[in-house]
Order: sequence, then structure tokens, then C-alpha cells
Amino acid sequence: MLRSPIIAVTAVLAMSIAASAGPFQGLERIIQLAESRLDAAGAIYCAFLAGLNTIVSETEPVYVLVITNEPTENIVMAASIGKDGSLNLEKAVAAGGRGLHGIATPAGADGLFSQSSIQASAEGQVLATVNAGSNTVSLFSINPKLPTDIKSIGDPVCSEGEFPMSLAFNSNGTRLCVLNGGAVASVNCFSVDKTLGLVSIPNTLRTLPLNQTTPPTGPPGTASQLTFNHDDSKLIASIKGVPPASTGFLAVWDVQPASGVLSPTAAHIATVPGGSLTFSLTPIPGKNAFVSTDPGVGFTVFDLDDFARSAAVPIAGQSATCWSSFSPGTGSFFLSDVGTGTVTEVRVDDDLQASIVKQYPLGANAGTIDNDVATINGKDFLFVMAATAASVDVLTLDGPGEARKTFSLDIASAARRANIPIGEREARVPRTP
Ligand SMILES: *[C@@H]1O[C@H](CO)[C@@H](O)[C@H](O)[C@H]1NC(C)=O
Ligand SMILES: *[C@@H]1O[C@H](CO)[C@@H](O)[C@H](O)[C@H]1NC(C)=O
Repeated sequence: MLRSPIIAVTAVLAMSIAASAGPFQGLERIIQLAESRLDAAGAIYCAFLAGLNTIVSETEPVYVLVITNEPTENIVMAASIGKDGSLNLEKAVAAGGRGLHGIATPAGADGLFSQSSIQASAEGQVLATVNAGSNTVSLFSINPKLPTDIKSIGDPVCSEGEFPMSLAFNSNGTRLCVLNGGAVASVNCFSVDKTLGLVSIPNTLRTLPLNQTTPPTGPPGTASQLTFNHDDSKLIASIKGVPPASTGFLAVWDVQPASGVLSPTAAHIATVPGGSLTFSLTPIPGKNAFVSTDPGVGFTVFDLDDFARSAAVPIAGQSATCWSSFSPGTGSFFLSDVGTGTVTEVRVDDDLQASIVKQYPLGANAGTIDNDVATINGKDFLFVMAATAASVDVLTLDGPGEARKTFSLDIASAARRANIPIGEREARVPRTP
């Protein structure tokens, strides 16, 4: 990631649940938050975008990529960021399929209940997105000298499951796997062909015991994120539990190095005690281990080499910590909490002991969800989608414990100016306080 001109990450607007009060009270809190968002006229647009990527180009500053996840048509928006923090929408490309929103009561900003619905590969110079309403996956080429120059490669391909909601490239960008989180829940993998597009890899379609609907009903009990481990030898899906009846778990498949074929069955690793709503999976560099947000407690460090060393770590006062990313420049992980509007900076030492470095309140009603780190001229920046504020907050990371908010990017206005529908369905049901 450090060496590469393209930083991929993902963002999805989603969910959560809570901490000290227990999961169900936490869910009620999230429902209240969703309602208060609907009350804030004009402030809900961003919440219905489904993903965010940042790209650092070789020649230009920073680009932001989002998918709209609209049920009528899913659109990839590519925008550049000016030196003054202004956002210029430069290109909008049809993703070749439709979006879809998971079912939550009331219908809220939960989008796909996942992280990594739009994913770029720096090595492969490709971008992929799910089309949750069409059960397809689309592939695009990225020109590293001009990241807004996005071109589709081949046709969108069938995900061979329902409600595709998270994507994972292997480290060199030659393979892509998709996590389907609907009534037909599965993983499935493709090779990335620069001419043909996505080509199915035989013997990689594997079912998941989710017992879900299409679209899924959640956030509890839904799939969360798909990722490869550090050496591409495992493919891992995170699944939220339905507390107190069931805990979350990781489904782990072995990947055959040469062929990409997956083991016939997955090993199931139950979330460690204390955790319940297993959400993001951010690799810990150099380790066979992950930082995983868990809105039921805070986060979990999963050690796949020695599972007994895995531990759930509470974040005091958290309510819905769902998204995470890693900053190579500071060595810190950044976790965002949609319930409290707070970003928590976490350090994990060589023995996988985690500690909270600092917390950054971005506003109780900011609705901080998906986040991503970009390295620009040797300096790291954290991009946090602030759903309620209809913006992306940018934090400059001067060093460990030294993040400061530098500007906000207004994505919703850029979309409105270009007449790109975002959040239409919800916008038709404005509520009065
Ligand atoms: C699956 O879901 C249905 C309805 O949502 C429920 O009645 C059933 O008990 C669930 N089965 C399992 C095994 O969880
Ligand atoms: C890319 O990585 C895969 C393993 O994930 C490996 O089999 C393949 O040979 C690599 N390809 C290149 C071009 O490095």
C-alpha cells in the first residue's frame, strides 16, 4: 500500500449496535440515530452512497471514488480534490447494474451492511464494484496517471449468489473474490483478465450458512467483509452474530496458490468472548492477524496463527464501531463509530497487544462511517465518510496520536450538480420533527 500510487479501500454506509447497554438497546439507539438523520433535511444523501475509495495519482493530487448503490442504477463517481479542499466531480460511469439496500427497521443509512463494496487494486490497476441489486460484479481499468479515466473491462459477471456486498483482490490484483450476503449466500472467485474482464475460477463457489433474506435483514446476522490474509493463502469472510442467540464468526477457506481453488469447506472461527457483531477485517502488516471492528464491544484482534491470542478490546463509550483502516505512515489503525461520530486511533504492538492511542470526536451527529487512508507525498491522510453531514472529513496524520481535521469534502452537492440520483427513495419520505 505504501509503495503504490493507488490506495484502495472501501467504505460502506452501514450499521451498528452497541456496547455497554447491550446489543439490543444499542440497536434501538441506532434506529433513533437513523431517524434523526432523516429529520435533518438534505443531510441524508451521503448516507445512501455505498462505497468510497481514494486514489493517489502519480501526477495529480487525490481522487475520491464512490458508488451510489441506487436501486435504479449503480453509478461510479470519480472526483478530484483541489488544494483548497473543493471537490470536482470529473466522471460518472454506469457500473452496469443496479444497487440495493439491506432491510433495517426503519430503513436507514445502512446500505450494504459491509466494508469493501468498491475495491481498487494498486498492483493490478483495476477497480471493482458490486451491483447488489443485479447480483453482478463489474471490473474497470484505472489509469494511474489519471485515475478518473475509468473504463469498464468486459461485461459485468454474475456473482452466482444474491446481494453481493464485499470484494477482495489478492495482493497482486490478479484475482478477485466476492461475498454474497443474501438468501443465496456464498463466496466466489474470478481471475482478472485485462481484456476479457472477470473470468470465473473453477471450484471457488462456496456456500455460507447465513439463513438470510434478499435483500438481507440486519445489521445483526448479516455478512460484513471479505479479505485475503497477508500471503493470499486464506480467504476470510466476517459474519455478524445475532446476540444473544449467536456470536459472530469468521469463515476461513484455504486458497491453492497456483490455481486459486478454495478448500471444499471453511473453518469457522467463533468471535472471541465479548465480541458479537464481527464487522471489518483490516490486516495487521506482517502478521497473520486482523483488526476487526465489533459494534458490540469496540474491536477484536484476530490472530489466525494462534487463535488463543485473539482478544476483544472494549472502547469505552462506543456505540457503533464498524469500519477500520490502517495508516502505514503512523503505524496506527483508525476505527470509525457511526453512533458517536468518533474516530478511535489504535496501535497494535509486535505481540498483537492493542491499545487506544487517542480519540477524535468529529461531531456527535457526523455519522462517521467508512474510512480510508491515502499516502500523499510521504504523508498519510484519513478520509472518513461523514454521512449525516453529507461530506467526507479529511484528517491529516502528522504522527501517532497527531491527527487533525483539515477539511470536509461535499460529495452530495457534487452529485446534485451533476444530476446524479443519490438517496432518492429516502428523500421522498422527509420527516418533520
Ligand atoms: C432461519 O430464519 C427463519 C426466518 O427468518 C427462522 O424462522 C429460522 O428459525 C432460522 N433458522 C435458523 C437455523 O436460524
Ligand atoms: C499473483 O499472485 C498469485 C497468488 O495470489 C500467484 O499465483 C501469481 O503467480 C501472481 N502473479 C503475478 C503476475 O505475480
